[in-house]
Amino acid sequence: MRVLVVGGAGYIGSHTVYELIKDHQEVIILDNLSSGYMELVHPEAKFYKGDIRNKEDIASVFKQEKIDVVMHFAAKIVVPESVKEPLEYYHNNVEGVRTLLEVMNEYNVKKLVFSSTAAVYGEASGVCKETDITMPINPYGETKLATEKMIQWVANAHGFNYVIFRYFNVAGADQSLKIGLMKDQLTHLIPVAIQGIIGLRDHLTIYGNDYPTKDGTCIRDYIHVSDLAYAHVLGARYLNGGGKSEIMNLGSNSGYTVLEVAQAVNEIAPLKYIIGPRRDGDPAELIASNDKARNILKWIPKYTLKDIVLSDYNYRKKISNR
Ligand code: UFG
Repeated sequence: MRVLVVGGAGYIGSHTVYELIKDHQEVIILDNLSSGYMELVHPEAKFYKGDIRNKEDIASVFKQEKIDVVMHFAAKIVVPESVKEPLEYYHNNVEGVRTLLEVMNEYNVKKLVFSSTAAVYGEASGVCKETDITMPINPYGETKLATEKMIQWVANAHGFNYVIFRYFNVAGADQSLKIGLMKDQLTHLIPVAIQGIIGLRDHLTIYGNDYPTKDGTCIRDYIHVSDLAYAHVLGARYLNGGGKSEIMNLGSNSGYTVLEVAQAVNEIAPLKYIIGPRRDGDPAELIASNDKARNILKWIPKYTLKDIVLSDYNYRKKISNR
């Protein structure tokens, strides 16, 4: 298979490229490097610098390369930023995909694996199924849901097939430690807690301990980025083998409280934490039902929470030394 990975120099995109290459697939990357890094680009992948909002940039790749399946990761994903800059989010996340779909249609490449998010479920609490109501509570989730719908209408009109993956809480780093989450301004729980044990932060603030959960802190479903990336390999193989369009959650079917995550990090090295006020927009509990991905793709996540925190720790230690 020849797979075009749009956003293949970013965190999840680069892990997917590594899994595709392990699976002996040919990879072409298109990335504008706005939040991606050349050092995350796999040396065996062919790289094009370009922006998905620019039709010429996309078309020039399709002109030069034969492509079987397209994967899209080139999205803006920071929730509070989306609240401040909604137009930027619609432009990049919706208009970018619209342009990509237009070019795919022109070049008759009609198989797409698309990254969506649990943020489409909004305030949902408990175990989310793909058939649950979608009611995003921020522009980020709205742009992903709008794009899901656009893809579905385009599939209907032009005979595309797609796999839309809704990610839950993604963390960790590839075992090789060549790639991982590089950002300086980290906000997600696991990398923030890890910074607390490698001297890059004094403590972790836990946002609220008065939620209706077993220890009062929020429950989330954590998934190792390499497990998530491998699901994309299976998704591409599925589409290439004639599989029909589907939306699937990618999570682990189980949840951990913030305190349990802090405890898992504390087992590596002592972590100081304080309890702060609740953060706006945090649902008490968000867990994926992953039955659909298990049944259709035979996808079985293999990494535990312990593996996830340890791999992020090893990666963060490695990049903090330079
Ligand atoms: N948390 C803290 N302290 C921190 C950071 C986070 O207590 O310093 C808590 C949050 O309040 C939340 C939990 O840890 O209860 C997880 O928070 P993250 O910021 O790591 O992740 P979110 O659950 O808010 O969101 C992520 C993605 C979304 C996606 C969602 C799916 O950013 O895009 O997972 O579950 F929709």
